[in-house]
Amino acid sequence: MNENEITNINSDNEPRQASILGQGKAHSKIILMGEHAVVYGVPAIAMPFKAASVSVKISPSKTNRSWIESDYYNGPISLMPNDMANLKKVMELMLDSFNLPQKGLHYRIESNIPIGRGMGSSAAVSVAIARAIADYYDVELSDYQLQLIVNQGEVIAHESTSGLDTLMSSTNDPVMYQKSEQPVPFSLNLKAFLILADSGIEGQTKKAVASVRQLFEERPKFVKEALNSIERFVKLGYQAIQNRDVTELGRLLTYNHYYLNQLGVSHPSLDRIIQAAWYAGALGAKLTGGGLGGCAIALAKTAKDAELIAEAMQLAGAKQTWILNLESE
Ligand code: MEV
Repeated sequence: MNENEITNINSDNEPRQASILGQGKAHSKIILMGEHAVVYGVPAIAMPFKAASVSVKISPSKTNRSWIESDYYNGPISLMPNDMANLKKVMELMLDSFNLPQKGLHYRIESNIPIGRGMGSSAAVSVAIARAIADYYDVELSDYQLQLIVNQGEVIAHESTSGLDTLMSSTNDPVMYQKSEQPVPFSLNLKAFLILADSGIEGQTKKAVASVRQLFEERPKFVKEALNSIERFVKLGYQAIQNRDVTELGRLLTYNHYYLNQLGVSHPSLDRIIQAAWYAGALGAKLTGGGLGGCAIALAKTAKDAELIAEAMQLAGAKQTWILNLESE
């Protein structure tokens, strides 16, 4: 979604609803290792990123029309732009799956997750919508049903999806995740800091996933070898986390980036930011999420190192940076 193209067709301004009867929340995510490869069954390591979150509140609509009120679009659901089709799908599936009345609802979406930065904004909004509908109608929504319904929306947003974004926006622990397998939660508890840097360039997960698929069709041997290497790095990365070996983890993050670059999903601006992190003393750095823009991560040993690295990433073009203490994750 393009933040510059904020649509507002609220000409007949539906009045803000006073009573809020349903509420759902979700948060952003950071993929430490294994993005893209995870679509092909390779495990990935990811953690929730709660500083960026979304809340959806539902109240009865004053008219019979269902309505969305958000910074991105404000208007009837029937006229939502195409790039919100995933949200519409989730609403329809929720109402149909639980045999809920199709009456007018007013959805108010509040989100501070940057859109199109590989931070799982679309999955998080969908999860919050599904949870708000369940809360509004007081129905029991199991984690399994939630994943199933939101992933249908994600298929529209990204075509192929591993389901990782959906899981991470609704889960509270870091996980080792493999498609169609039960996710393995763990605690990071590392004496290290993670810097998340937003390149400010809109990432294009759908395009990136499609381009990896095309590369796979054109050069299957090359892509299979890359996927095998990423799988090895992810497994070693998980071991490094268990062994609290942050130097080894950093090296593996960087290796993972080389291979993502080979798969064609990095971006010159991201590479500049990542290189700046390396030069500033990061233990490792890579793109995170869908790529072709979006965000990068870097690993630092101390809080002071993290600040210097974040500064270097900003000087190299990052528009916003966050520092996370991994001892408390
Ligand atoms: C996007 O955040 C992660 C990808 O691996 C896609 C997916 O897992 O569905 C690129």
